Amino acid sequence: MLVLGVETSCDETGLALYDGQAGGLLAHAVHSQVAMHEAYGGVVPELASRDHLRRLVPLTREVLARAGRRIEDLGAIAYTEGPGLAGALLAGAAFARSLAHALGLPAIGIHHLEGHLLSPLLSARAPTFPFVALLVSGGHTQLMRVHEVGRYELLGETLDDAAGEAFDKTAKLLGLGYPGGPALSKLAESGTPGRYKLPRPMIGSGDLEFSFSGLKTSVSTLLRKENKNEEKIRPPDLARAFVDAVVDVLVAKCALAMERTGLTQLVVAGGVGANSQLRAALNAKARTAGFDVFYPEPELCTDNGAMIAFAGALRLKAGKPANSGAGFGVRPRWDLASIS
Ligand code: KG4
Ligand code: ZN
Repeated sequence: MLVLGVETSCDETGLALYDGQAGGLLAHAVHSQVAMHEAYGGVVPELASRDHLRRLVPLTREVLARAGRRIEDLGAIAYTEGPGLAGALLAGAAFARSLAHALGLPAIGIHHLEGHLLSPLLSARAPTFPFVALLVSGGHTQLMRVHEVGRYELLGETLDDAAGEAFDKTAKLLGLGYPGGPALSKLAESGTPGRYKLPRPMIGSGDLEFSFSGLKTSVSTLLRKENKNEEKIRPPDLARAFVDAVVDVLVAKCALAMERTGLTQLVVAGGVGANSQLRAALNAKARTAGFDVFYPEPELCTDNGAMIAFAGALRLKAGKPANSGAGFGVRPRWDLASIS
């Protein structure tokens, strides 16, 4: 069955076509609003909603054309029901549900994080259930035990800032713009390790919780000291210290989750999963600790419609299509462990 996927939870409009029977992912297209929000230093929700509305129809036409399919070929429409920005979610939900109604098709509300954590299953080298998932996005840092499609058990999460949020806030302190995660990671590549000492929050807490808000404070303290002492801080070295601290904590908690669950496959999903330093360190740890790590294709790490179409297709196949009730409701706040 051909599933159209619609993602509008934040600042990317993502559309995709996934065919469970023939061809898998046939086409996907993403329009990023980053350039539009950059001037404001962050996402402006009202602008985001309006831009989603402008992009949804042209992007749907684009994926249909690229896949050589017609709108009549669609068998279902999956869309992001939450979590995310209410107005942005509503733009996608209204579009998806109206189109589904007009075509007489099922509309499937998908949890955005379910989309992320199932996305490595789209790769040629894919994990099998059950596995542990590390979700590291702009809004979430969670470790989940994934039993099967729709059964997600929370093992631990951040008590304050998400890892991506810490990247973005630290990047802002260093004047790297928005969203700064990729730029900060790039800057860290030319930094000398160990030049600045930053804490590894909660690394020895013995549980699977995280805390990242203190790191940004430590960076800002170092920068303030610089202003007072006129001792020049080297931004690449500071970026490197920050990235090393985040990566150390994420790797340690993942290793602990693998040990605690006794599972042998780790899936890493969400925007920070694109980070090259995190991937290198996790791969090294996996080799010594004896577990396998799986990532989505690089272009599917950040928000996209492919993961939503795919999650919709998997839910239909598993006979679990109805996440949502009828109507246009969205869930800006939505706990992944509560879904079924
Ligand atoms: O999953 P995502 O696209 O959107 C959310 O659902 O939040 O994640 C976006 C986050 C942003 O905080 C961004 O700075 C971060 O992922 N990110 C990265 C990298 N690429 C994206 N952080 C570190 N290194 C990267 N290469
Ligand atoms: Zn996301």
